[in-house]
Amino acid sequence: MSGQTVVVLGGDGIGPEVTDAALAVLRRVAGDVDFDERLVGVSAIRADGTALSAATLAACKRADAVLVGALGDPGFPPGSDPDPGEALLTLRSELGVTVNLRPIAARSTLAELGPIRASHVQDVDFLIVRELSGGLYRGGRHARDARAALDECVYTREQVERAARVAFGAARTRVTSVDKANVLETSRLWREVVTEVAREFPEIELEHMLVDNAAMQLLLDARRFDVLLTENLFGDVLSDEASIYCGSIGMLPSASLGTDGSPGLFEPAHGSAPDIAGLGVANPVGAILSGAMLLRHGLDRTAAADAVERAVAAAIDAGTRTRDLQGTATTGEFTAAVLEAL
Ligand code: NAD
Ligand code: IPM
Ligand code: MN
Repeated sequence: MSGQTVVVLGGDGIGPEVTDAALAVLRRVAGDVDFDERLVGVSAIRADGTALSAATLAACKRADAVLVGALGDPGFPPGSDPDPGEALLTLRSELGVTVNLRPIAARSTLAELGPIRASHVQDVDFLIVRELSGGLYRGGRHARDARAALDECVYTREQVERAARVAFGAARTRVTSVDKANVLETSRLWREVVTEVAREFPEIELEHMLVDNAAMQLLLDARRFDVLLTENLFGDVLSDEASIYCGSIGMLPSASLGTDGSPGLFEPAHGSAPDIAGLGVANPVGAILSGAMLLRHGLDRTAAADAVERAVAAAIDAGTRTRDLQGTATTGEFTAAVLEAL
């Protein structure tokens, strides 16, 4: 054993299916890591009445990294008690992850599949840096009476600075900072702080873009983006939109990182997909590539991460495709193709 531990949380819906796929790949390239599989979400509620037990949370905090499938179940609507979906937000805040990286890299062999013409798809390659610790997600959000409800949007300078530094550090040429500064005070602070941070990176261009325009520019020509930096909710919405360039939301990995040495949380961007759960047809690429991000950012195993990314690309380029990519491969068949390519 390497002494490195990864907690693996399959979760709800297709979560366990895609996480099993990622775990098979991780075991192949990092067999010396201790993978500690635990329950979260509905299965954890059934086992011990809570979606995220104290013991599981403690194991996550001790680990070098955490891999999550997906959380959320139609049997437990938003706001229900217990709420499996809430476990993800608890994990993020308890682990202290603050910035979420969502790479949007089109594969040219899939460029013909989607609704956007191939010439505008194949060279798309940018990174969404989503602030993950603030905004509407973390203000007071349970104020409610019969007549009205209140969600607070709060941002501190420190939160914006942290995300901005990650974005500029990752940029090759330009950071596009997305906000709604024509309306929101938090966005005005956002714009001010991002502009200050930009001065530390004179070789990187900074542009500001209002979020409504950004949503449109993303569809018009996403080849213009290098790093797209944005706050929590805008980043959530824009990343699902951007997944169009990868062929399916099932393709998108993500890494949620802290800045103080806390373990990262690695999770595909998609949800529990109740409409296809249990059918064995879920696309495991987002989960497998989240595993690659875990190897790179969580365990410092660059060579293994590169190998996984190459194997996924090879499986796709060889024509192995799940249903969301208009193919017929099952989750297991696609995973076998990746293992074969390794
Ligand atoms: P979703 O991402 O689960 O599904 C949206 C659509 O994409 C569905 O048609 C689904 O079949 C498809 N899809 C998603 N992942 C896929 C994959 N890997 N392969 C093939 N097709 C895939 O979003 P939703 O339907 O809005 O949400 C369902 C549940 O998931 C809700 O409870 C929501 O709160 C939760 N959710 C969880 C996470 C997470 O855990 N990180 C993220 C988003 C949504
Ligand atoms: C995501 C998800 C989560 C979010 C939900 C499940 C809380 O949509 O990771 O994109 O909104 O952050
Ligand atoms: Mn989302």
